[in-house]
Amino acid sequence: IQNIIIAIDGHSSCGKSTVAKDLAKKFDLTYIDTGAMYRAVTLFARQKGLISDGQVHTDALQNQIGNIHVELRKNPTSKQVETFLNGTNVEAQIRTLEISKHVSAISALAFVRKRMVELQQEMGKAGGVVLDGRDIGTVVFPDAHLKIFMTASPEIRAQRRFDEMQEKGEAVTFKEILDNVVLRDHLDSTRKESPLKQAEDAWVLDNSHLSRQDQLDWILDRLQKNG
Ligand code: C5P
Repeated sequence: IQNIIIAIDGHSSCGKSTVAKDLAKKFDLTYIDTGAMYRAVTLFARQKGLISDGQVHTDALQNQIGNIHVELRKNPTSKQVETFLNGTNVEAQIRTLEISKHVSAISALAFVRKRMVELQQEMGKAGGVVLDGRDIGTVVFPDAHLKIFMTASPEIRAQRRFDEMQEKGEAVTFKEILDNVVLRDHLDSTRKESPLKQAEDAWVLDNSHLSRQDQLDWILDRLQKNG
């Protein structure tokens, strides 16, 4: 298990990161949250005024892509992985609905994906990693030892995300979140560059009605089946 690469792909807000973190803890793997990396690039573009009226100033962003340094660092106290953009901890800033609304436009850009995928491959190549995202089993690590494709009904996913945001005190409505989840799935699945799709050799996990422990048990079972 030491050099294993586990790929978890699937729809927005279906708990991929929870499962990935549980697996990382259980097997002492490094967790790589690839969505956080696209969110950090989106934050950069927002900070530089490169997104207006939902439109990305693609050329300007491309010119600055070399100035975007995204890192995932493990917080020694909380043991949680945190996202850094050019040396600043942006973990809280990248989780807002505002960023969720623009991230699919940014992640559809070929030059953004190229850079992030290279970084992810570099971070994961030695193994001992679990990555979650949209294209891990299809593009980033097509030879991953275990591939999971996660999904759940849009309403259930939106409700979970809504509860989370309520807890954080973010003023959003259930409808806004549901719309965002559905729109992101649509944009992510229909884009030209590395669209979200199930790898042929992925196990499909619909967790609409499964507890956190059920999901972990289900995956452990698949791990055994995969040898
Ligand atoms: O996983 P998360 O919801 O944080 O991902 C945010 C967005 O980043 C997705 O909606 C998708 O547009 C993009 N993404 C991607 N490829 C990945 C991970 C995320 O395009 N591997």
